[in-house]
Amino acid sequence: MSWVWTDVFSHPLWAVSTVIFGLLFRSQQRGSWDTRACLVQLKGKTTIVTGANTGIGKFIALDFARRGARVIMACRSEARGSAALQEIRKRSGNANVHLRLVDTSSLASVRAFVEGILREEKELHILVNNAGASGLPGDITSDGLEVSFATNHVGPFLLTNLLLDLLKRSAPARIVNVSSVNHWRGVVDFSHFKGENLAYTMDSVYNHTKLHNIICTNELARRLQGTGG
Ligand SMILES: NC(=O)c1ccc[n+]([C@@H]2O[C@H](COP(=O)([O-])OP(=O)(O)OC[C@H]3O[C@@H](n4cnc5c(N)ncnc54)[C@H](OP(=O)(O)O)[C@@H]3O)[C@@H](O)[C@H]2O)c1
Repeated sequence: MSWVWTDVFSHPLWAVSTVIFGLLFRSQQRGSWDTRACLVQLKGKTTIVTGANTGIGKFIALDFARRGARVIMACRSEARGSAALQEIRKRSGNANVHLRLVDTSSLASVRAFVEGILREEKELHILVNNAGASGLPGDITSDGLEVSFATNHVGPFLLTNLLLDLLKRSAPARIVNVSSVNHWRGVVDFSHFKGENLAYTMDSVYNHTKLHNIICTNELARRLQGTGG
């Protein structure tokens, strides 16, 4: 008895399994989500968004501005930051949007940024640690840190901790650390911080940094329980 491939595909099991697969796929689909469907207003709230000149950070800054918040866009480039600032002010109609410079890969820059914030701001209600980079070539910063770890984890970690008292005084407050689903591919090895034992393949360094984001966020959430932060 001979058979051809088309016989396989015309088998009733194909029709049944296609329908089941289609239903499963459909059940996983979420409806489109419009941020404007959420009516929360942020008037009177001061917010900081790092890496706010493009991508996810820019969208968050625009959304906060539309909700009436005082928005501090923490960017590393004055030119790119200014362009985004003008656009966000225009699109949101909110003039209370400001640019401050920070390079999260530099501990000195983070300290200088926080000094400015503590001098200028009486309150801070939302801190979004969004700035991050993937695919950076292996390098060691002037602080002796591997550059992806410095940018994605150590800088934001320092920034958060230096702003913690202000956030607590401003409670209810929120800290949002933008990690990645790929954190599960990362591993913890503290020699990585100095650039040792790292393989620069397939975003593995980025994944390690994002795992550290998750671990520290969980621990910070535990420590801040009951503080309103
Ligand atoms: N897009 C995704 O699919 C995805 C998925 C998972 C997680 N994430 C995370 O989401 C966050 C934002 O990602 P995105 O896709 O919006 O990236 P993006 O478009 O590349 O924007 C990254 C932002 O971070 C800033 N940044 C990078 N290095 C910095 C440094 N040393 N100091 C200060 N700012 C720095 C960039 O500034 P410049 O413009 O000056 O470079 C930019 O504003 C990141 O933490 C990323 O890991 C993204």
